[in-house]
Amino acid sequence: MASRVARIKKGGAPVGDTTGADAPGDPSIEGTGPDLLLSANGPQPQRDLPARAASNSLPDSDSTLLSLEHVRISYRLRRSVVEAVGDATFQMDRHERLMLIGPSGCGKSTLLKAVAGFIEPEGGTIRFDGRSDLTPGPDRAVVFQEFDQLFPWRTVIENVAYPLRVTGHERAEARQRAEFFLEMTGLAAAADRHPHELSGGMKQRVAIARALALEPAMLLMDEPFGSLDAITRVRLQGELKRIADRTRVAIFFVTHSILEALTLGDRIVVLGSPPSHVRTVVDVRELGGPTDPRYIEVQQHLHEQLGATDKDLSGVEL
Ligand SMILES: Nc1ncnc2c1ncn2[C@@H]1O[C@H](COP(=O)(O)OP(=O)(O)O)[C@@H](O)[C@H]1O
Ligand SMILES: [Mg+2]
Repeated sequence: MASRVARIKKGGAPVGDTTGADAPGDPSIEGTGPDLLLSANGPQPQRDLPARAASNSLPDSDSTLLSLEHVRISYRLRRSVVEAVGDATFQMDRHERLMLIGPSGCGKSTLLKAVAGFIEPEGGTIRFDGRSDLTPGPDRAVVFQEFDQLFPWRTVIENVAYPLRVTGHERAEARQRAEFFLEMTGLAAAADRHPHELSGGMKQRVAIARALALEPAMLLMDEPFGSLDAITRVRLQGELKRIADRTRVAIFFVTHSILEALTLGDRIVVLGSPPSHVRTVVDVRELGGPTDPRYIEVQQHLHEQLGATDKDLSGVEL
């Protein structure tokens, strides 16, 4: 089979390596002008308020939402090829919270970007909701670690409403939906502030609200709490769990914290060193809290799998 290598932009970035439709640095989006939110876009069919978010009474489904089969991803640089992911195979159910963990540089972000459709694997298959020709789309909304993923010149509510306008929602409906998700993420009082008037934790909440407002089938989160102080991080982990239970959105969450993975995850997929393979998959749903002996066993197992000497993987930090 012909070997394909991840398409690379100038400067080594893979083609399509942006935050998608809401990328602050994406000139194609900026080109539509900061007033898009305010511009009339013709009459649009009025949709209901986010029914999926407002209700947790959807029928359960065991069907697979995401599957990766022997995924291999490399980056072609000018004089060399970086083999990031050697062979990743795992599945994820609808409504599941799957934590991807592994040492720095093992390809966690690379895999997340491939699921988002920003980069194309050179081998193997990624299937999402029955499709394998993945391009970025609102069914997979991405939240990154960086605080600067918001548009600095837009207010909080405009930041949340903007991708909705881009994806065709009528102005009043976009605003209504944005208000709903700002309420859900505890940001209603900050709706008219600009990002520079927010704490790091609030900025990440806005990014989460913006992603949720698209009502994606899956949230893709790349160390979203990695830059937060310990207390804010724990608080946001709790809030994310509550939101995930309420909206039933599937969460593909990259972290290098064992404790974060245990706190948030239904299952934990552990990657090894690059070119990475899946070392183990741990189901943590049946475990009790940190005092459950099985919890401690699993924690130790994860430490062993990851290499307890790696300082990035202390697992004691949150
Ligand atoms: N745009 C890129 N161009 C070239 N190499 C890259 C690029 N992005 C990531 N890499 C390399 O791919 C490997 C995996 O990176 P990444 O997916 O960011 O790891 P992780 O998120 O697990 O820390 C690393 O060796 C990294 O240097
Ligand atoms: Mg990363």
